[in-house]
Amino acid sequence: MTHETQRVDLTGRLIVVTGCSRGLGAALAPALVGAGARVIVHARDEAAAAEAMQKSGAHAAVAGDLADPALGARMMAEVMRVSAGQGLDGLILNAGVLGEMGPLDQVDFARFREVMELNVDAQLRLFVATLPALLSRRGVVIWMSSGVGRFGAPNYGAYLVSKHAIEGLNRLAHAEYGARGLVSLAVAPGMVQTDMLRAALGVDDVNMHTRPEIAAAAFVRLVHKALTHGAEIAGASLDVLDF
Ligand SMILES: NC(=O)c1ccc[n+]([C@@H]2O[C@H](COP(=O)([O-])OP(=O)(O)OC[C@H]3O[C@@H](n4cnc5c(N)ncnc54)[C@H](OP(=O)(O)O)[C@@H]3O)[C@@H](O)[C@H]2O)c1
Repeated sequence: MTHETQRVDLTGRLIVVTGCSRGLGAALAPALVGAGARVIVHARDEAAAAEAMQKSGAHAAVAGDLADPALGARMMAEVMRVSAGQGLDGLILNAGVLGEMGPLDQVDFARFREVMELNVDAQLRLFVATLPALLSRRGVVIWMSSGVGRFGAPNYGAYLVSKHAIEGLNRLAHAEYGARGLVSLAVAPGMVQTDMLRAALGVDDVNMHTRPEIAAAAFVRLVHKALTHGAEIAGASLDVLDF
């Protein structure tokens, strides 16, 4: 079946996407809404969250810095409000930071710790906070990984280490909750035309890489697959452009 003929209907599904102010997240939210899902967008502050909600047609918005330990509880409260206690079908842990590029022998430990806090600890906190809602719907969690979560590449520093940790969290979540119906996935989006890619490559022109809308459409197909045939892929480490 080709991508074009595949029916992707997420009607009745509730999905949270973090980091919807720009980049990949700003494309993911409207793509999911377009497939019929109800979406709760997240952004760093109230104004950005309201704007992301308005632009994407999302159902609700949650604001907060990833570093805020109370963000998960607010997200869970919004999930329970919007779903009337029914739970959550999908959590897309998209928001993240690149941090400083540079060799290991020039590491700034304060910055290293900060990237790990945002890209690992904060992701785990959001997962744990919403896990009961995900379990009650046999939902999918997408841990946003990267090619550099799977192999070495010079100068990627804390970012590379944090994405390796994300791959580990996916495996751990699958090992602990897969049998209870959670579909946990580590997903690399490929090289997508965003500010983060510009910073990583050190160039302004990234037009030869994947448009956010193309990656977002592939994520919609992957979420649909996870919610309909989750057992086939649960626990896997995937490249979204394969979908
Ligand atoms: N683009 C690529 O080629 C690529 C490749 C591999 C993996 N990825 C992964 O894909 C995901 C999205 O990346 P992207 O390229 O879209 O990045 P981006 O353009 O830099 O956008 C990052 C998003 O995360 C949010 N964010 C960052 N720090 C935050 C914080 N402390 N609190 C709340 N929100 C925060 C940003 O919000 P603000 O606007 O408020 O800063 C923004 O919405 C990331 O996990 C990234 O590692 C991307």
